[in-house]
Amino acid sequence: MSLERIGLTQLKDKVISAQDAARLIQNNMIIGMSGFTRAGEAKAIPLALIDQAAQHPLKITLVTGASLGNDLDKKLTEQGVLARRIPFQVDSTLRKAINQGQVMFIDQHLSETVEQMRHQTLEKPDLAIIEAVAITDDGLIIPTTSVGNSASFIEFAEKILIEINTSVSTDFEGIHDIYIPSQRPSRAPIPLTDIQQRIGTRGIPFDADKVVGIVFNHTSDSPSNITEPDADTQAIADHLIHFFKDEVRAGRLPEDLGPLQAGIGSIANAVLSGFKTSGFHDLKMYSEVLQDSAFELIDAGVMTFASGCSMTLSKACGERVFNHLDNYKDKFVLRPQEISNHPEIIRRLGIISINTALEFDIYGNVNSTHVGGTKMMNGIGGSGDFARNAHLAIFVTKSIAKQGNISSVVPMVSHVDHTEHDTDIFVTEQGLADLRGLAPRERAAVIIQHCVHPDYQASIFDYFTRACEKGGHTPHLLQEAIDWHINFEKYGSMKI
Ligand code: COA
Repeated sequence: MSLERIGLTQLKDKVISAQDAARLIQNNMIIGMSGFTRAGEAKAIPLALIDQAAQHPLKITLVTGASLGNDLDKKLTEQGVLARRIPFQVDSTLRKAINQGQVMFIDQHLSETVEQMRHQTLEKPDLAIIEAVAITDDGLIIPTTSVGNSASFIEFAEKILIEINTSVSTDFEGIHDIYIPSQRPSRAPIPLTDIQQRIGTRGIPFDADKVVGIVFNHTSDSPSNITEPDADTQAIADHLIHFFKDEVRAGRLPEDLGPLQAGIGSIANAVLSGFKTSGFHDLKMYSEVLQDSAFELIDAGVMTFASGCSMTLSKACGERVFNHLDNYKDKFVLRPQEISNHPEIIRRLGIISINTALEFDIYGNVNSTHVGGTKMMNGIGGSGDFARNAHLAIFVTKSIAKQGNISSVVPMVSHVDHTEHDTDIFVTEQGLADLRGLAPRERAAVIIQHCVHPDYQASIFDYFTRACEKGGHTPHLLQEAIDWHINFEKYGSMKI
């Protein structure tokens, strides 16, 4: 136990075991827990809760920043603890339970969860469980590797449990910038006009009287499994870099491009890594999760600053960054996800957003979440927060999936997360479609020419030609459009 990490004297006698802390969680409670994309989740109390639930079953609503590490979503699902889960997940066991209707999943824009709580359209948590590096003597909770929704959970919850993680260095103090917007409609503009700016406090202010227990843990975040770029993701990166160079030459983008956002997953990470040898300099990032690629670009001297709400790193990259935090401290900041993903700031700063689609259609509508139109994959995450408000909304994906039996470009997406009104550029390994300023029929022609895999090009062009003959502003043959998805479901291929 490291009592020196508890600066506020009045809290030193609040240390309890994870088991005693878990006993404070009661059936039907709403728990607001730290954790964003495998970073900074509470670790000991959820495991103790799972043990206790084996003897005394209970159900909770679990609200976090995003997905969790250390297989917590899997273990909580297996023990039947989750009644409701908000707002994002990536776990295959939980995904299955969601798709079987056993767990009610509310898939939300990640900037909106605490806004909805603030205005009571989503219930506030009964209990906040927040991982911290330390509690300072001037009364701040210093988060660990993510801020996520923690600051607002602490403000809204009736009671607070704090997990101090002694595996995270106290050098983390100074990395965070905590700013919580006030109530609408009298809210002042959020005063962030530069990505490096700090507008808040170095830790989370809290009411010490609400703290019902402090637990110590010494467990690391789960490292991310970054897959190395392959020929297709490299080709996607190359198309994008080429496009950015053309935009700079045409005077539509500045030399440093402006702040970049990149989504989760192997494709987005590979695309960002492609900037290492691109010739671009002074890049900046205003994003959600900082993955390996952000720190690789900082190491390569190509990126000067990165702002996010969590850092999810591979083992090797984590060791490099966490063991030499002093080298990076003036090069990145972690903010609440409400600020990293805030529409007002994204619009103001002119972010270039790059997110991954499961599929998109010939008119530029994107499905990021639902496999075959019905089965939840992960959730919309921050992709909508960014795409809707970005200076350039870019979506990337490989042109085919499942050994070529799925075309990622279809006549009509089976579920819409991002509408044609919010998307500008599409990139597959086949090429890049620039849809800016184009009407639906023009958009379709460009997408079919540049993005579709050769195996599907003739059939999708035939579809579009016949749909145009039938007419309409956005021409479709509805039954046939749906048949692309039905064919995969029935026969295992869209090629039928
Ligand atoms: N239909 C069905 N399955 C598809 C598919 C399609 N059109 N396109 C891809 N897939 C499958 C892949 O085959 C792969 O399956 P596997 O896990 O069984 O191998 C899986 O989806 C993931 O695809 P992959 O190519 O590895 O992409 P990824 O790891 O980059 O993830 C998303 C892609 C879309 C799932 C992911 O980016 C996501 O969840 N996005 C939504 C949230 C988001 O954008 N957040 C960022 C905001 S900051």
